[in-house]
Amino acid sequence: MSVQKASPIGVFDSGYGGLTVLRELVKTLPEYDYLYLGDNARTPYGTRSYDTVYKFTLECVRYLFDAGCQLVILACNTASAKALRTIQQHDLPLIDINRRVLGVIRPSAEAVGALTHSNAVGILGTTGTVNSASYVIEINKLFPHISVFQEACPMWVPLVENGQHDSPGADYFVQENIKHLLMQHPAIDTVILGCTHYPLLLPKIRQYLPEHVRILSQGELVAQSLADYLKRHPEIDINCSKSRRRTFLTTDNVDIFDQHAAVFFGDKLKSTQVCVMPIHDQILNKHA
Ligand code: DGL
Repeated sequence: MSVQKASPIGVFDSGYGGLTVLRELVKTLPEYDYLYLGDNARTPYGTRSYDTVYKFTLECVRYLFDAGCQLVILACNTASAKALRTIQQHDLPLIDINRRVLGVIRPSAEAVGALTHSNAVGILGTTGTVNSASYVIEINKLFPHISVFQEACPMWVPLVENGQHDSPGADYFVQENIKHLLMQHPAIDTVILGCTHYPLLLPKIRQYLPEHVRILSQGELVAQSLADYLKRHPEIDINCSKSRRRTFLTTDNVDIFDQHAAVFFGDKLKSTQVCVMPIHDQILNKHA
C-alpha cells in the first residue's frame, strides 16, 4: 500500500466566488493548508451546458489531484450541481478511490430545515444551478414538507466578476430577481444564496428582501460541515497538511486576479497563473 503525503485541501471555483467560501474555511479551520484554483479564463460556468461544466470541473479537479490534493471542495454551486455526482460516482473510482470531492449544496440544504418556520424557502442561483433543480432535490430528500422556490439570476455573476456589485446597475437586477422570487410565494421566510459570488451583493440583497426574511450565505455552513466531516473521517484528515499555508492559482491573468480576489477573500493575496490540461471528449465519462 502506498503511503500518502499530507497535502493541502483543494478549493475550486469557476472564478472568484469560491474565495468567499475559502475565507470562512480559513476562519473555522485555520491550521490546514489550502490550494485555491479559480478557472477565471473560462468563467462564468453558470450559463454553460452540463457537459461543458462537467468537463471543465473535472479538468480542474484533476489539476488539484496532480498537485497532491487528497480532498477537493467544489466551492461553486454550478459545478456542485452539474458535475459533483458524476465525478464522485464515475471518475473517482477510476482516478483514485481514496480521494474525495465534496460540494456546497448539501451543507446548505441540511441547514435550511431548522431555519424556516413557514416551510417556504427561496433559492437564488445561476441558470445552471436552478435548471439542475439540485437544491429542490436535496432539500426535499431531507425535508419533504418544505416547498422550494427558485429564481435564476444570470446577470449577478457578471456584475460581481466585473467589480460592479456596488453599482446602480446591480440595484436594478437584484431588485428584479428578488421581486420575481417573492412573487412565487408570499410566505418565503428563508433565502439561500446559491452561488458563491452572491455574498458580495449581500447589502443590496438585504435592501430588497423584507426584513423578516433570513438570508443564508454558504461560507460558514460549508466550513462547519467540513469541520464535522474531518472529525468523522480521521483517515482523510490525516492526509491534510496543517502548516497554515494558502496558495492561490488562476487560469487567467494574475494581476487582475490579485486585484479582484482581495475583495472576495478579505485580504491581499498573490496568485500564480496555471494552465489546466484539457481532457479529450473520448475519455470523458459522460453522464446518462
Ligand atoms: N460561483 C459559482 C457558483 O457558486 C458560479 C459562477 C459562474 O457562473 O461561473 O455557482
